[in-house]
Amino acid sequence: MNRKNVMLLSGAGQIGMAIARRMGYGMKIIIGDIKIENAEKISKIMKDAGYDAEAAEMDLSDRNSIKSFIAKGQNYGDIKMLVNAAGVSPSQASVQTILKVDLYGTAVLLEEVGKVICSGGVGITISSQSGKRMPQLTAQEDAMLACTPTEELLSLKLLQPENIKDTLHAYQIAKRCNEKRVMAEAVKWGNRGARINSISPGIIVTPLAIDEFNGSRGDFYKNMFAKCPARRPGTADEVANVAELLMSDKGAFITGTDFMCDGGATASYFYGPLKPQQ
Ligand SMILES: NC(=O)c1ccc[n+]([C@@H]2O[C@H](COP(=O)([O-])OP(=O)(O)OC[C@H]3O[C@@H](n4cnc5c(N)ncnc54)[C@H](O)[C@@H]3O)[C@@H](O)[C@H]2O)c1
Repeated sequence: MNRKNVMLLSGAGQIGMAIARRMGYGMKIIIGDIKIENAEKISKIMKDAGYDAEAAEMDLSDRNSIKSFIAKGQNYGDIKMLVNAAGVSPSQASVQTILKVDLYGTAVLLEEVGKVICSGGVGITISSQSGKRMPQLTAQEDAMLACTPTEELLSLKLLQPENIKDTLHAYQIAKRCNEKRVMAEAVKWGNRGARINSISPGIIVTPLAIDEFNGSRGDFYKNMFAKCPARRPGTADEVANVAELLMSDKGAFITGTDFMCDGGATASYFYGPLKPQQ
């Protein structure tokens, strides 16, 4: 079998597909999703467009499942790219599931791929502007989110049920943790000659966002894109524009950081019409 460079795409959603289409030409693309039907659907769309894609069942909240996903990719060649765009939103899941998937699962994926990523490799994980709206954590809390061994993460005091208000809070702290893990992992990935960054999108029209529009915070989200400087939600292809910069050689000096792509919603939340009433 011809060996190829491999891209691992975790999460067969719109954002993940847009990035994979932008960066995955000529590579073997393994598309993992907890819903195999989602992975198969995206794999078919990509194959029909000339990409070498293959669907796999993968649960981001399970280390063994992540390891099998990586091993599947290694059957075809070196792991050159990671795109992690799997996740659940505040309207889709419980506090426990959000922490297990978005926080713990992302940390494990970055750790496991970081053990095998090849020199010149690059990864992206999708965080969220939502994490920027949460009040600052202490330096010590940030350090714990960044550096606590993955299997101890969910035992941290700040992640216990009495300290998590609701599913939005769980989502925000998970996304904050994503950014901190990226910083800590970038140091390890750098030892292998590889880079890892995150992107924090604002509201991007995808099935996940549509669930939010139709959920209990629907009016909040609609107001957010109406009153952000861009006056509209974004598209997955606009997130792919940022990914292209970060994942291509143009981003060779960028690692361990987070890029916001939110139409200015966060700016408006702090200093404009989206600022919460005191
Ligand atoms: N759409 C937005 O407005 C928006 C904004 C900010 C951040 N994000 C983030 O972007 C990422 C991708 O979201 P999207 O909008 O493309 O959503 P999407 O619903 O199109 O795709 C998410 C995919 O993740 C999969 N998934 C869920 N749990 C999983 C698990 N345990 N293991 C493996 N796969 C799992 C789902 O089945 C789904 O196919 C998420 O992390 C989300 O938090 C989205």
